[in-house]
Amino acid sequence: MNRLKTSAGLLACALVRARRLLQVTACTLALGVAAQGAAQEKEPERTGGPYVPTPQIVVESMLRMANVGPKDFVVDLGSGDGVIVLTAASQLKAAGYGVDIDPALVKYSNGEAARLGIADRASFHVQDVFKADLSRASVITLYLLPSMMINLRPKIFLEAKPGTRVVSHDYTFDDWHPDDQIVLDVPEKEKINGVPRATINLWIVPAKVQGKWQVQIEGFERYEVALRQKYQMVSGSAEAAGKGAKLTYATLRGEDIRFTVMDGAVRRNFKGTASGEAMQGMVDLGGGKTARWTAKRV
Ligand SMILES: C[S@@+](CC[C@H](N)C(=O)[O-])C[C@H]1O[C@@H](n2cnc3c(N)ncnc32)[C@H](O)[C@@H]1O
Repeated sequence: MNRLKTSAGLLACALVRARRLLQVTACTLALGVAAQGAAQEKEPERTGGPYVPTPQIVVESMLRMANVGPKDFVVDLGSGDGVIVLTAASQLKAAGYGVDIDPALVKYSNGEAARLGIADRASFHVQDVFKADLSRASVITLYLLPSMMINLRPKIFLEAKPGTRVVSHDYTFDDWHPDDQIVLDVPEKEKINGVPRATINLWIVPAKVQGKWQVQIEGFERYEVALRQKYQMVSGSAEAAGKGAKLTYATLRGEDIRFTVMDGAVRRNFKGTASGEAMQGMVDLGGGKTARWTAKRV
C-alpha cells in the first residue's frame, strides 16, 4: 500500500517536475534570446558538465543512502533545478543549500523553495562549486562530470568535516574508493546516457590521522605509532620501549578508528575516535579486560 502510494507520488512528482522544467527551459531560452539582442551575456562556464537532472527515484535513494534526517545540512554542488536539497528539506526536514553556475536554475530553485514553504531551510546561490563553503555540511551531494569529481576531490577531503557523508550519482573520485555503492535500475536514464541504470556512491570523509602518535594505555604500555593514510585506508607500524611491534587491522570511518598492536604474545585491540591532534577510546586487553587509551600527535 505504502509502496503504491510512493510510486504514485513519484510519478506525480516526476510529471510536475517535468512541466516545471519545461518552464525553466523556456525561461533559459528566453534569457538566451534576450542575451543575443543585448551585449551577448556570457553563457555560464559549466566546468562540471551540463544540466542533466537526477531522476526523483535516484534522488531519494541518494538521500536514503546518506541517511539524511532533520539534523542534517545538505550541500549540493552543481544543484541544477534544486531537486536534491528541495527533497531533503521537504521530505526529510533537513536544511541545506545548493550552488550552481547558472542563474536561471538558481532562481528557479529558490522559487520552488518559496513555493514549498521551505525557503528558511533550503536556499540556492549562484557560485562556482570550488568556492562553495563546505564547513556546515554534514552531507554533500554531487552529479558532476568525472573530471570535475577528481578536481573536487582534494577540496572535499580537506574541507569537509570528518564524518561528512558524500553521495554521488554515477561518478566517483577515482582512487578515493567509495565506502559503499549501489546500482539501481532506472529505465528513464537510457534516453539520457544510454544506460538504464544509476550507480550511487557513498564516502565517509575520514579524519586526518597520518603521522606519528604517542599512544598510552592507562595503567599499561605506551606505544610509538606511525600511521600512513590514503583517504580512508590506513596502515602503519608501532614500537614499544624502542622495540618493533606489529600494527594490523587498521580501519578508519569518519572519526572512528580501529587498529591492533601485536607485541610478541601481547595483543591489544584499539577502538576509538580521532579528532585533530588527539585520539582516545577503549582497548581490549584480552581475557575480558579493557582499559582507556589516549594518543597525542608528536
Ligand atoms: C548534471 S547537473 C546536476 C544537477 C543536480 N545536482 C541533480 O543531480 O539533479 C550539473 C549541474 O552543475 C552545474 N555546474 C556545472 N559546472 C559548474 C560549476 N563549475 N560550478 C557550479 N555549478 C556548475 C550545471 O549548471 C548543472 O546544473
